[in-house]
Amino acid sequence: MSSTDTLTEAPESVRGDHFIEIDTDGPIPNNVALSSDKQLQRALETWRPKYLDWWGDMGPEGFQNAEVYLRTAVGVDPTGWAKFGYVKMPDYRWGVLLAPKVEGRVIPFGRHKGEPAWQEVPGEYRATLRRLLVVQGDTEPASVEQQRYLGATAPSLYDMRNLFQVNVEEGRHLWAIVYLLVKYFGKDGREEAQALLERRSGQQDNPRILGAFNERTPDWLSFFMFTYFTDRDGKMQLAALAESGFDPLSRTCRFMLTEEAHHMFVGETGVQRTIEATCAAMNKAGIKDPSDVEAIRSLGVVDLPLLQRKANFHMSVTRDLFGSEISSNAAESFSAGLKGRFNEAKLEGDDHVLADATYPVARVVDGKLVEERVPALRSINSRLLDDYIKDCQGGIDRWNKVIEKAGVAFKFTQPHKGFNRRIGEFAGKRIGPAGEVLTEAQWQAESGAWLPNDADMTFIDSLMKPCHEAGKYASWIAPPRVGINSQTGDFEYVKIA
Ligand SMILES: [Fe+2]
Ligand SMILES: [Fe+2]
Repeated sequence: MSSTDTLTEAPESVRGDHFIEIDTDGPIPNNVALSSDKQLQRALETWRPKYLDWWGDMGPEGFQNAEVYLRTAVGVDPTGWAKFGYVKMPDYRWGVLLAPKVEGRVIPFGRHKGEPAWQEVPGEYRATLRRLLVVQGDTEPASVEQQRYLGATAPSLYDMRNLFQVNVEEGRHLWAIVYLLVKYFGKDGREEAQALLERRSGQQDNPRILGAFNERTPDWLSFFMFTYFTDRDGKMQLAALAESGFDPLSRTCRFMLTEEAHHMFVGETGVQRTIEATCAAMNKAGIKDPSDVEAIRSLGVVDLPLLQRKANFHMSVTRDLFGSEISSNAAESFSAGLKGRFNEAKLEGDDHVLADATYPVARVVDGKLVEERVPALRSINSRLLDDYIKDCQGGIDRWNKVIEKAGVAFKFTQPHKGFNRRIGEFAGKRIGPAGEVLTEAQWQAESGAWLPNDADMTFIDSLMKPCHEAGKYASWIAPPRVGINSQTGDFEYVKIA
């Protein structure tokens, strides 16, 4: 685990000097003095029942009456995370929580660099900012919709609880964005807040905005890969928005990042525990070859090459979420001071304006992979994608250590950036995992070895049997090393109604 992926610890960025108490009196817990802004309060109280209807329709199927051992934020400093208790999900205290204001904060990049951060939306950037919010906001309910059937096949109550924790927090992320829309964008913002409850993941006539959020999350391996790889896109986008010159957005995103860290923890440890179960079963049965698929699958565990194919799929669709590597929209969002680079304020070695800087972008030219220097402003997306790929490696290295320790000869790798892409520089190109430029015929012949095939999905499906007894785990996944909030092994994380 990296320091930002731990369960209860908040990243440095949210640690203010002062503890900010959350007002929990009204129906909407908040630390934004909601009761002193009647118009905003009314707008959010009008939206709330519609949100609850959406949660009822699209939230976790079949477990709305279950008592779930959830963590609820009662403060926005690290100790504010201490509150654990049984809650029925529809009673979860969704609210509006911002990281503490940093006095004297200035815009860290772009043409307004050094000016005081904006407390109101600058008129000339209104449309761009609204679009950024809507695109981010749309991903939050989308993932809840994608994951809504997973409770039924949970491999343990511990995992089921983690799924529901992620789901309620994605719901809170929607609240976070809706707060900004409703408070700062008037009637337009209220309409967008409504539309966020109307689009549906995977629906033909009114789908979610981004591709990966319309894919199915049909099984628990998909869920763990999604929370490791796709929630990490969330982390990168939120981190870039946390640099924003629009201070309320920055503060909102800084707090959301603390929740995102837990989602990636669920993904990383979920995959790791799957690997542990596989290696232990292989060793017990005396199977040395990780590609002895039939023998390994007969033990009720997932072969490592299949996990690699699953990872390949999730990595490639998530990389598409970064948009075109070369983008004039991204250049404008940066220059305007709305969306920065990863760790913008801490970056050394350039002027944060980037008027004359360049950045190396991988492209396919005349059938060959080349690296071209492109104006840095136009390659902001490319850079964020590169930072994302680096950020993914930590967990992969830790998975590989587990395999090595078990004495199994297998290593997870990240496929080339251009592998299986639909958006950006590599759209319409066929690139193999090692970065080889392929013909369509070569791709068709080989891609079944690189991406989950029908037989893989049928096998995974056969493993997805519920294990809903306290302290018990499905064959394909090892128990966690520590319980949530240090609970013991047989703790009943979900009391199913
Ligand atoms: Fe989120
Ligand atoms: Fe998330």
